[in-house]
Amino acid sequence: MLMWEFLKEQWNTLPLPVSPELCAGKTYIVTGSNIGLGLETAKHLVRAQAARVILAVRSAPAGERAREEIEAATGRRGVAEVWSLNLASYDSVRRFARRADDELDRLDALFANAAVYLDQWTTVTSTGDGADQGEVGKEEETSVVVNDISTTLLGLLLLPKLADTARRFLQSKPRLVIVTSALAFSVRDDLDSIRDDVFDGLNDQKKANMRNRYALSKLVQIPIVRRLARLYPPEKTGVVINMINPGLCRTGLARYSTWYYQLYIDVLRVLIGARTAEAGSRTILYGVAAGEETHGKFLSGCEIKE
Ligand SMILES: NC(=O)c1ccc[n+]([C@@H]2O[C@H](COP(=O)([O-])OP(=O)(O)OC[C@H]3O[C@@H](n4cnc5c(N)ncnc54)[C@H](OP(=O)(O)O)[C@@H]3O)[C@@H](O)[C@H]2O)c1
Repeated sequence: MLMWEFLKEQWNTLPLPVSPELCAGKTYIVTGSNIGLGLETAKHLVRAQAARVILAVRSAPAGERAREEIEAATGRRGVAEVWSLNLASYDSVRRFARRADDELDRLDALFANAAVYLDQWTTVTSTGDGADQGEVGKEEETSVVVNDISTTLLGLLLLPKLADTARRFLQSKPRLVIVTSALAFSVRDDLDSIRDDVFDGLNDQKKANMRNRYALSKLVQIPIVRRLARLYPPEKTGVVINMINPGLCRTGLARYSTWYYQLYIDVLRVLIGARTAEAGSRTILYGVAAGEETHGKFLSGCEIKE
């Protein structure tokens, strides 16, 4: 995307893509919805008469605060529910997906919005299915686990529920909406350096350039979504899979990074004219309003931008 194109899109006034006609009676999951773009996305869904909106968050108190804020803003009680999901743990992802399968009658969209921006190397130890038998977990870099692997795992685990909804509720066009970033395209060279073995490469601290890690995790997401879209076409599943770039928004995304990076982002936001979180959420909501032609596509500014 050229700089001028990027700025023009950034300053566009975006339409609100959701309405009661689209959302009434439907069930949605929004990951990372205690704050930022996810919170504003969930608020719009509740206001648009969704029946259930699951706030999938890693901190229960933060989730409760978000639920209260949504209820106060929309005047609708008992629609938003706080469910625990920690994307830094595959066990938590699996538990969440099982709960969704057991407790939700339908699932009209998963907004895979949660992500973390880290510019320092940290790892999480993931446990596989053999954890009960004492299997030792593997150490993996945190942002790759949260932004790429767990996000994909959750999408895959919930795909059958989305497909089942498509079969049973003919008016529903379920969606798997994955939030990515145009920043991804600024680090193509970093991907080239690990192209032969992407996930081992990402887990090699010696090769890691943590300044670019967030952008790289978002770049890795793009071919993953495209592959998912090829493997699961809407003709077979009834589910549309698309990915969204929300543009530069005023949120706390960089709050876990170093103070100088936070300062850099703050200055950039002022210079470029970042969107509010509410405006950014409109781009994400477009993922459920847009048609089947968006399957496997990169959406930005409420349009397909390939
Ligand atoms: N803001 C921008 O300019 C911008 C631009 C392009 C793309 N995006 C994308 O937009 C999405 C939303 O970002 P945002 O700007 O709204 O940032 P945000 O305010 O920091 O929200 C991120 C959300 O992800 C959650 N999260 C982080 N690690 C998690 C984990 N291990 N398990 C579960 N949830 C976790 C956070 O929870 P906690 O509050 O508990 O940390 C928070 O709810 C992200 O995918 C981001 O990459 C943002």
